[in-house]
Amino acid sequence: MIKKGRPEGFPFLFVLTNKTNNKMELLLNHKSVRKYRQKEIADDLLNQIIECGAKASNTGNMQLYSVIVTKDSENKKKLAPLHFNQPMVQQAPVVLTVCLDVNRFTKWCDVNSANHGYDNMLWFVSGVIDSMLFAQNICVAAENYGLGICYLGTTLYNAPEIIQVLKIPQGVFPVTTITMGYPDESPDATDRLPLEGIVHFETYSDYDDMRIRDLFAYKESLESSKKYVAENMKENLAQVFTDVRYKKQDNIFFSEKLLKAIRAQGFDI
Ligand SMILES: Cc1cc2nc3c(=O)[nH]c(=O)nc-3n(C[C@H](O)[C@H](O)[C@H](O)COP(=O)(O)O)c2cc1C
Repeated sequence: MIKKGRPEGFPFLFVLTNKTNNKMELLLNHKSVRKYRQKEIADDLLNQIIECGAKASNTGNMQLYSVIVTKDSENKKKLAPLHFNQPMVQQAPVVLTVCLDVNRFTKWCDVNSANHGYDNMLWFVSGVIDSMLFAQNICVAAENYGLGICYLGTTLYNAPEIIQVLKIPQGVFPVTTITMGYPDESPDATDRLPLEGIVHFETYSDYDDMRIRDLFAYKESLESSKKYVAENMKENLAQVFTDVRYKKQDNIFFSEKLLKAIRAQGFDI
């Protein structure tokens, strides 16, 4: 449930706080789950969940995505180091690697003598969008069935190695990974910026220093944030992001690696 009533200028917030229904509760109660019970997900259930993914809006109804399902523990073992050994990969009963895919549609064009051009930036980005909409529908459906999920952004860091392990062909690229299973933890909900920090009416209203400080004050005041800052011996939370979690030199290194991998998969970017 969104907190704090109705700040001025946010009439729709009022609707959310007062008229939540079950579907909205599902979205509002989302939490990433990183510990799973050792219980299989039935094939029928997994199929239904993926079917919900496939109902997501997508570019031109071309469905520019594929998903690779990993259940086999040997295969999970191969993927684990590529996700920097995040324990969820080996612990979750199901690991889904969601890939953008122009390969399938291009091949359909080929067999129909249709002159295509989907190996460029526009279609790479379209594929990323389709993949993430597909992935998010999967996550919401999974949560609806009482399962827990966690995205793994590490997919982009080690895409070339993941491509090798999963035998991903040209025109296909791993975008994100979802670990899924029956929850074995009930984590606290994480904070979000207040709506007035992310919504702009009619035109973009840029942030001055005071507004920035104000918007992030709540996040900075959390005990968990203070703990992060102290543990990492930083001056503030922003420095935990820039100096510990997502460092500039890493960002540059992995960006270059990613671009090379995208080109190696046949995209002219
Ligand atoms: C694209 C993407 C990549 C993510 N990568 C990771 C990851 O590698 N490891 C992890 O533990 N959580 C990962 N997360 C989960 C986020 O940390 C989480 O969604 C965020 O902290 C908000 O918490 P919540 O999902 O519990 O609301 C990722 C989420 C997204 C959308």
